[in-house]
Amino acid sequence: MEKMTGKRQGHDFSLLEICDLSVSFRMYDSALGQRDLQVISNLSIKVDAGEILAIAGSSGSGKSLLASAILGILPENAIVAGDVRYNGQKLIPELQEKLRGKEMALVPQSVAYLDPLMRAGAQADGHQKPRPTARRKEIFGRLGLPENAESLYPFQLSGGMARRVLVSTALIADAGLIIADEPTPGMSLDQALEALKLFREMADDGKAVILITHDIDLAFAFADKIAVFYAGTTVETASALEFRTGPEALRHPYSKALWRALPQNGFEPIAGFQPYAGNLPKGCLFAPRCSCKSSQCEQEAPPVRELRGGEVRCFYAT
Ligand SMILES: Nc1ncnc2c1ncn2[C@@H]1O[C@H](COP(=O)(O)OP(=O)(O)OP(=O)(O)O)[C@@H](O)[C@H]1O
Ligand code: SF4
Ligand SMILES: [Mg+2]
Repeated sequence: MEKMTGKRQGHDFSLLEICDLSVSFRMYDSALGQRDLQVISNLSIKVDAGEILAIAGSSGSGKSLLASAILGILPENAIVAGDVRYNGQKLIPELQEKLRGKEMALVPQSVAYLDPLMRAGAQADGHQKPRPTARRKEIFGRLGLPENAESLYPFQLSGGMARRVLVSTALIADAGLIIADEPTPGMSLDQALEALKLFREMADDGKAVILITHDIDLAFAFADKIAVFYAGTTVETASALEFRTGPEALRHPYSKALWRALPQNGFEPIAGFQPYAGNLPKGCLFAPRCSCKSSQCEQEAPPVRELRGGEVRCFYAT
């Protein structure tokens, strides 16, 4: 099986380790009063230096909230439980603030994160002194940003250009962990491939990269392993090679269905809908859509277990 642990750096822990993370939002409702809406539950992942972990999953599965939880930028009404460690240290709010933008860099999902009053070149250079002008010019050039882009303000950038500036900002930050949340929309295929190539180079240079993407094809091509999210938790972690191989190499019914839903694999839609955070089914979260379910699946939530070098959350996966 392809690399699952990445390059170790003399530690017996991964650069980022998340164990049993849960996130809920405290909501106030005139009819129901106060209630907690659980949006991430029992989520565990590890990312090593030297590897790209892709996170795939449909809209609303909790991908961006995971990024925010790691960086400590969740909204104030969020309640977080679980253990998140960076380089062996518990990521408490003070440490998150210290590392954010320096040791941990984010490519945010929305281009609205750009500072409207700062030129693109200065934004991309970030906190670094002296300014990394040569590296910025190299990355802007590789991502197809025109020479004058550095002196433009965000309102003068197209959506695709703004996203390439955000990608450049994270790459230039020289962080140990880069979290790229849907970094390629609005880019041409060539630009998207170049952006992914740059993330791959960062990983090969010893950084850890979390690549959040709807585009599983891109994840196949550039990631080392892929975590599949469903309704706020992981259902499978597999190597990218296993995803390229096909459903027989995968473990969870949802991962297999995602594979079959790809255009090149028959475009077979997955019947039903992902449950909404406020209305999660009892037992296995995938049970309402699963053709392999038993009565046990509708009563009990399956735990994550190791299987064939990966991980799966299903009673019956083999
Ligand atoms: N501030 C909030 N308050 C309440 N619920 C929220 C809040 N932010 C997100 N959610 C809910 O949490 C769930 C996960 O949201 P998240 O943004 O992480 O999804 P995602 O996987 O990134 O989706 P997408 O692929 O569309 O970006 C969704 O059901 C969303 O409605
Ligand atoms: S635990 Fe049961 S319902 Fe859930 S994915 Fe496995 S077979 Fe399907
Ligand atoms: Mg998102």
